[in-house]
Formats: sequence, structure tokens, C-alpha cells
Amino acid sequence: MTDVAARAAELRRLLERANYAYYVLDRPELSDVEYDRLFRALQALEAAHPELRTPDSPTLRVGAEPSAALTKHRHLVPMLSLANAFNEAELIEWEERNARLVPEVKQAGYTLEVKIDGAAVSLTYEDGVFITGTTRGNGLVGEDVTPNLRTVLNLPLRLQGRGWPKTMEVRGEVYLSKPQFERVNRERAQTGEPAFANPRNAAAGALRQLDPKITRARGLRLFCFHVEAPGRKLPFDTQHALLEQLLAWGFPVEPHYRLVPDLATAHREIAALEGLLPTLDYEADGVVVKVNALALHAELGTVGDREPRWAIARKFAPEVRITKLLDIRINVGRTGALNPYAVLEPVDIGGVEVKQATLHNAAVIKAKDLRIGDWVEVTRAGQVIPQLLGPVRERRTGAEREFAMPETCPECGAKVEHPQDEVMTYCPNVSCPARVKEGIVHFAARNAMDIRRLGYERITALLDAGIIADVADLYDRDKLSVMRLLTLEGFAEKSAQQLIDAIDASKRQPLSTLLFALGIRHIGVQGARLLARHFRTMQNLAKATVEEINAVRGVGEAIAEAVAGFFAEPRNKALVKRLEKLGLNMTEPTAPAGEGVGGGRLAGQTYVITGTLPSLSRARAADLIEQAGGHVTDNVSKKTTAVVVGADAGSKVEKARQLGVQVIDEAELLRRVAEKP
Ligand code: IVH
Repeated sequence: MTDVAARAAELRRLLERANYAYYVLDRPELSDVEYDRLFRALQALEAAHPELRTPDSPTLRVGAEPSAALTKHRHLVPMLSLANAFNEAELIEWEERNARLVPEVKQAGYTLEVKIDGAAVSLTYEDGVFITGTTRGNGLVGEDVTPNLRTVLNLPLRLQGRGWPKTMEVRGEVYLSKPQFERVNRERAQTGEPAFANPRNAAAGALRQLDPKITRARGLRLFCFHVEAPGRKLPFDTQHALLEQLLAWGFPVEPHYRLVPDLATAHREIAALEGLLPTLDYEADGVVVKVNALALHAELGTVGDREPRWAIARKFAPEVRITKLLDIRINVGRTGALNPYAVLEPVDIGGVEVKQATLHNAAVIKAKDLRIGDWVEVTRAGQVIPQLLGPVRERRTGAEREFAMPETCPECGAKVEHPQDEVMTYCPNVSCPARVKEGIVHFAARNAMDIRRLGYERITALLDAGIIADVADLYDRDKLSVMRLLTLEGFAEKSAQQLIDAIDASKRQPLSTLLFALGIRHIGVQGARLLARHFRTMQNLAKATVEEINAVRGVGEAIAEAVAGFFAEPRNKALVKRLEKLGLNMTEPTAPAGEGVGGGRLAGQTYVITGTLPSLSRARAADLIEQAGGHVTDNVSKKTTAVVVGADAGSKVEKARQLGVQVIDEAELLRRVAEKP
């Protein structure tokens, strides 16, 4: 080995040791500064000597370039799910059924493991090095999410100790801690994206991102609990020893596992674990009971390719509490929607104090027959989000009051509107203080203008002090200056300057980001990107007609009308003009050829998409083509490279055949955009 190669290997070893100490053992060995220095040293070495990059390099954890699509991966051994038992009797039945097949199970002992509610993954190690990681998929075939899994900081890239088989699949669960889950949902709420119902959905979504940097930002963690290595000898013969071996190899294992001699003991221990689950930092939805002796696993086998007989999930019914519905109040969102929520007498559910629950809209309140003053049943959906199930009618006294949506906005007094075919009620006043505030919060949020240090509290303070009244004022130094900030509580010279710098930095955001941040109805991140890419400048977009906007691929009528409506309003026009004067970027950069995921491999090619594709939306397919340097048009001509055809395609296929233009399907398209040029 050369000196440089030895140095790189040494750095990899040191950094991974530090990662392990920090993320698995919870016992940091290096300070952040030391870690960063070593990390940058390794990055520099690898940049200068690309041949030294190895699949186990910690530098890969920062996230690779986005990929065009996830590729399929066939599991060596199917990934099974588990049968459930909801009480002791069902556990006893399970043991009896097993004992009829293999009588020894009653004497073999059981391991108990906390069942983490996340996304199942399978990790392939070759000679102790992490090579491939996949989702469960349908159990037989999953999706390759290796670059995303490398960003999971407690996943070992190279194993410690020895004795592992040459090839093995380690099975585990990737999850988001409760605080991370709440942070992700808070951020989504700020930008008007729907909240994830539970950490499992959030984890699964993060895992399947095409851009590993997004996955990394979510902060996923891993626990492992199973090993498959067909035809190879494993250095353990019980489930308990398997878990200890996983730990010795450097895998994170949920720490509350235990071995019990029989089912009677299991019942007692499970009861103890049930009390513990709500106190954990991660969502657990039960306890997995496994026959300890691995030899018996083979004998017991599986039910179909679905469930092993040797394991079962003991699940607990969600905790339901009764409390008093003190009031129904309204929160006005940035679109003007009046969102009713329940104010509850505080009640403890699974270790968390619940005092509010969203009620969505008036129709839901009516359907549930809720009255103010009712005793109500409350639970936490997916054990997280408070949910009001319904009233306890027997406890009504007659003093309860029915709820009615107000006729006027509780924040500004404007007469509310109730559009036909919609369940929501809206405040139509664009200057309504609640709408203005929520609008500014959205504008500054992370996936909008990304103004660090400008959250809900500070925006409230700035509005209350009369320093700002709209988003343009943020950039107006006659209004928002270090001096003015110093008059507010909680600001010092340095923090005030930092905030101003963060605001100024956001002026450079591309048009797509600004469009999304403006909070035009129906415009999400994707719609904003499509519009910005097509029109390139704010000026072009502002003068486009509904028809012209509607003609943009992926943009529908609702967006077209909302955008045209936005620019027809003099107040909005004035706002945009002021933003431009204040120096905000109003253009979308053209992606240089070769940038983005495609590396320009479809450069010079033109595609037409028709029909419903099996997995991609048309907008997404068009995106992939454009990112790879290709063009997408609506009409088939002799110049068309190929027509991508999905279900229920119409006359375009016929036209393609007449002109001798290629007809391809989604799979072929994905192959083309992913292929090396
Ligand atoms: S054993 C053959 N053990 O729960 C292995 N699963 O509902 C079968 N899970 O797909 C799974 N913690 O993703 C097992 N300690 C644990 C688990 C666990 C979480 C997940 C796993 C499985 C799902 C079944």
C-alpha cells in the first residue's frame, strides 16, 4: 500500500470509530472540530486520488448525487412480516399451534424485542463491508436505496470483530426519533405540506428519496434484529446470541431485548415493556416474541412466504382517554382557511400531555356530533398525533353547546366565504393579520426562502412591533435594520446582524423558490419549478395568459388560474415589483448541460409522453427527461426521438407508428435516463 492509501485507510478507520462511538455507543471520542478536520482531510485525499474511494468511506455518508430512479433488488431470502397477537390468550394459542408441529418450542425459551415502527430494510455485507441496502418492497423484490442508507449514521459501513459469513443480509428497521419526526412535521406545516401521520411514513418517505441529501437531513437511525446467510455457517445458534453478535459486529440493536425461559415469564416481562414503550425516544408498536433456538426456526418454517411461525408481534391496543372538550377555536391559515381545533382539558396519553386536537372542518365536527362541553374520547393516531374519536353521549347533561362556524373571521372580522364543493370556510381578506403572519412564516421557512433564525416567534415580534407588515419589508433596510432589531427583546448586536445577513442571503434564491414562497394557492414546490423552468423570469410569467400557463406540461387549470389571478391583483403586482426593487432574484438559472442527475445523456433528444405511466407522474417523467438534458413536447413529429407510452394512450401512438418514431415504455425511459452516456 502506498503512503497515501495507508493514510486514507487510517482516516476511514478513525472516522468510523468516532461515528460508532457517537451514534451507537453514545460515548463521543472526538470533538466536532477534530472530527471535521479528519473528515475534510479524507475528502481532500479522495478528491486528489479517486481510486482510493471505497464503498465503506465515511465521506459517502454526506449523500451522493440524486439518482433518476430507484432500481429493483431481489432479496436473497424473502423479507417476511409478522402475525399479531393482541392479548395473552392469542400468544398462548400461538405457542400451542407451534408445539403441535415442534413440541420442543415450549422448552426453548423466547427472546423479547421491542418492535420499532419504522421502515424495514435489508443490508447486504460482503466480506464485512456494506455493499447494498434495500427497502422491503413486496417482500421478494425491494428497491435499492444504498446511497440513502449510507447517510444513516449508526449503520456500520465496515464490520468490527470477525466471524461474519462472506455474504449476509442483515435485516433491521430504519426509523425517525420522535423529536426528529416532530421537527419534520413542523417544517412541513410551515410550508403547507401535509403532515406525516406517523414516524413510519416519514421514515419510509425519507428512505425512498431520490436525493440522498434530503434523506440525510431527515436524520434517520437504524436498529437491527435479524441475519440471513443462506448456505453459510453462522457463529450463533440462538436469537439471543444473534443479537449479541450483531452488537459485537458494530450494529445498533434496540437495547431492551431480553431472554425468558417460558411464555408465563414472557407475559410478565411484556407487561413491564408495555409501560416502558411510551417513554422511549422512538415509536414502538409492540413487542416481538421469538423462539430462541434457531434450529427450531428452520423446523417451524413460514406460513407461505409471508410470516415466520417462530415469531409473533404482541401488539397493544392504542390508549384511549376520556377528557372534556372545553372549547372549539379557530386558527386562520395562510390561505385564509378557518381551521377548527379542540381545546381539551389536559390529559396524559402514553406519557404525553394532550390539550389540543385538530378538527379539520365543520363537516367533521358535525359528523362526529361533537358539542362544546362534551366528554370526549381521545387517542393518539399512530400513537403520535392527538385525535378526537367522539363524544361519550351517555354523559351529556344538556348544557353542551353545538358548534357553528363563525360568519366573520375571528382574526379580522371580514365576512367569511364558503366556496361550493369545498368543505373549508375561508377568510377572503388578504390583509387579515393571521393570514399575513402565516404567509410570512411560510415565506421564510426552510423549503421556501430558507431564512435561518426567522421563525414564528420572531415574525410575531416583528409584526407586533410594527417593524414589518409584509414580506417585502424584510428586505427594506429603512424598516428592518440592526438598530430597529435592537429595540426588540432577545436581540443583541451579533444576533441582529446574523438575522439581517440571513435575510439578505435569501435574495439570491432562484425564481422557483420565490414563487413557492409567495404562497400562491395550489402552487407547491413542483409546480413552482415547472413554471420557473418554462417562463424563466418573473416578468414572463406575470404577463402570461391562463392558456399559456395551462399549456405548460404538468401544470393544470387550477394552477394556471391561481397564477393569473395572483398577477391580476394590483396589490400582488405591487408586492412583486417592490421585491424586485429590493434586489431579489427574479430569474431561474438554466441548468448547464451535464449538470443534474442525467449528466446530459438525453441531450438533443425530444420525447412525447402519453397515457398513464405505471409509477411516474407525467410531470416527474418530464422532469427526469429534462434533467438528463432532453426536451419534452406535446406533439409527435418526425423530430421526436421517442414516444413514452402508458395506459390508455390515445392517437399519439398511432401517429408515432405512421412516422416511424420509436415507442417506448416507462421502464425503457428509466433505463435511458439512468444509463451512463
Ligand atoms: S422480526 C423474519 N423483529 O416489524 C424477520 N421485526 O410487522 C421478521 N420489526 O417486517 C421480522 N422490530 O420490519 C422483527 N425486533 C423486530 C422488529 C421487527 C420491528 C418490523 C419488521 C417487520 C415488521 C412486521
